[in-house]
Amino acid sequence: MSSLRQRQQQQQPTKEPSTPQPRSTAPEKPSNRNAKTGPSILDIIRVLVTLVVASCGLSYYMTSSESVLWGYRPWFTRWPVLIRYLQGPLTLTPQQLSLYNGTDTSLPIYLSINGSVFDVSANPLVYGPGGHYNFFTGKDATRAFVTGCFQEDQTHDLRGVEEMFMPIDEEAELKALSSGEKKIRREQDRRLARASVQKQVAHWENFFRHHKKYFEVGRVVGLEVPEKERELCQSARQQRPKRSSLNKRN
Ligand code: HEM
Repeated sequence: MSSLRQRQQQQQPTKEPSTPQPRSTAPEKPSNRNAKTGPSILDIIRVLVTLVVASCGLSYYMTSSESVLWGYRPWFTRWPVLIRYLQGPLTLTPQQLSLYNGTDTSLPIYLSINGSVFDVSANPLVYGPGGHYNFFTGKDATRAFVTGCFQEDQTHDLRGVEEMFMPIDEEAELKALSSGEKKIRREQDRRLARASVQKQVAHWENFFRHHKKYFEVGRVVGLEVPEKERELCQSARQQRPKRSSLNKRN
């Protein structure tokens, strides 16, 4: 009987005194340790990649397969530009350049201005055969870019073209000047007119250089200057300003 009482006492849970227990400093169970507190780095990367891919796809659709970057196309994403960059700039003679006028559809379309050659194949409606500005291709027609005489001035030769920017004097006003004064005025006019020609050439050269569809491919070398200086075409002569109207403007 006494041994039975002893066993019952052993099985009963020992009652602890009701004093507060100190918090355990032992490591938590593994399940508690891995509990998530927020999105992981991997989750964030996944979301970002999804957003970028979705944006590229939408841009491709919205820009009619033109761009995956909402119209922004860095030069190295354009194959012909990248290939030309890797192959280096071209050096063409006028004879070689003449092949690139759109007649041979296996070749790109090139035009030259101020010796710089540009690929304008991206706009065959304007520069291809039958296009409004096809005459500019396969050659350096810098003079036509300045004068606007598209048929007569398909040449790089700019000699004398500054005349179109030189003011026409009134006879009466000229009579009042000495020959020395006339000479000085004429030299001044010519200097300013040459600057205007350079400005016009630079305008068009930059137009092609910075155009989002065209790109520079190299230079044309060996352009010959004919012995005889050509006359200013009629339409350019008609554009010459009158000094009286220039003075009024100033
Ligand atoms: C110095 C005179 C001029 C020069 C050098 C010149 C040059 C050019 C060039 C290089 C382009 C092509 C732009 C591109 O690649 O997108 C162009 C476009 C155009 N130009 Fe001129 N231009 C001149 C005067 C004129 C004049 C007077 C007219 C109007 C009668 C005109 C009408 C047009 C039109 C409508 C286009 C749009 C493209 C097309 O449909 O062919 N241009 N111009």
